[in-house]
Amino acid sequence: MAMDQTLIQTINKLQDAFNSVNVSNPIDLPQVRKFPLHRLFDLSYGVNVNFFRRNKTGQIAVVGSQSSGKSSVLENIVGRDFLPRGNGIVTRRPLILQLINRPNSKGEVGGVAAADGAKKDVSTTNEIDEWGEFLHIPGKKFSNFDEIRDEISRETDSKAGKDSEISAQPINLRIYSPNVLTLTLIDLPGLTKVAVGKQPPDIERLIKDMIMKFITKPNCIILSVTAANVDLANSDGLKLAREVDPEGVRTVGVLTKIDLMDPGTDVVDILAGRYVPVVNRGQRDIDNKKKISVALEAERSFFENHPSYRSKAQYCGTPFLARKLNLILMHHIKNTLPEIKAKISTGLTKYQQELAGLGDPMGVEEETQSNIILNVITEFTNEYRSVLEGTSNDISS
Ligand code: GDP
Ligand code: NA
Ligand code: MG
Repeated sequence: MAMDQTLIQTINKLQDAFNSVNVSNPIDLPQVRKFPLHRLFDLSYGVNVNFFRRNKTGQIAVVGSQSSGKSSVLENIVGRDFLPRGNGIVTRRPLILQLINRPNSKGEVGGVAAADGAKKDVSTTNEIDEWGEFLHIPGKKFSNFDEIRDEISRETDSKAGKDSEISAQPINLRIYSPNVLTLTLIDLPGLTKVAVGKQPPDIERLIKDMIMKFITKPNCIILSVTAANVDLANSDGLKLAREVDPEGVRTVGVLTKIDLMDPGTDVVDILAGRYVPVVNRGQRDIDNKKKISVALEAERSFFENHPSYRSKAQYCGTPFLARKLNLILMHHIKNTLPEIKAKISTGLTKYQQELAGLGDPMGVEEETQSNIILNVITEFTNEYRSVLEGTSNDISS
């Protein structure tokens, strides 16, 4: 993992630069040295959450047929119950979900939610450490996640209508938590062919356009969700993903509803690292309010005890999917490093010239000197941030 070592060293050097001039963490740069390298890819930690603190490092959008389990998969990745799910068209507006990692009041930073979920009952987390905020209700903190779900439904009805209508106007939700990676997830309506309720006849094209707007962006990771009881060759989600990402370099395939496959059938032959099979909560589990931690444990036990998946259980299920996504995001950061480096050295040259132009250091007021250093750091910080954020700044436009 030589590349990762480079990444850590680069980030540590930046931090040393801040520390040496007594500037304490002006933008929450990743604090990688708190975690040893071998833990970076440990399942129980996922990738160090600090890498992603306060930096928009990437976005992940779901694509797939209606009721294939997209919202369920996203919810499992986050590790909290807060999304409306169910049969029929439930997700009817894009939901732009910004997860923001924030240490709890004791200053602790948690692990990756999904990977942790099976071990820790997330409901015991102090509610004040985890809350949601909607863009359309500024200043209101939702610490009760059931109320977040109700608000998504209410806001969907109020802007789209109450009879299956869709709207391209997104709902923006931020979740602050010590247990998430800082990244943006986008839940989208599912692909469908036949209009129901008050849907217009061209519903298929409208939903497709809505999805395309997000997944055509080259920095968007596509989570292509297909129910395992559907022939993969007929997967609408996969077809759409291939239109924008023919090589599949930024597409992760997810096969849901493995538990609903006919006895004696499995998807083992098509896994080969390309698809991740998962078991989400079924409709009855939703109705019975089955806890996410219980569901993740059941999923683990399903794969470990299934005759077809037993020997490959480590490549199955939500924790593996979360880890795979983390690795892809890591690559994304690594790829931006050369650009960061170039910008930093440009900034350095500029300020060194400025410093030289001031003549003899002894003649410069101490305050001026530290102001120059602060400028340098501010500039670095802004560059660092803008590179990491890339073009994903205006995700809602
Ligand atoms: P979406 O329309 O793609 O967002 O799908 P949802 O997440 O809303 O799920 C649609 C329905 O499928 C719900 O009733 C879920 O309980 C059910 N479901 C989703 N994933 C699974 C799964 O892996 N197994 C089972 N048994 N049901 C699932
Ligand atoms: Na659905
Ligand atoms: Mg949905």
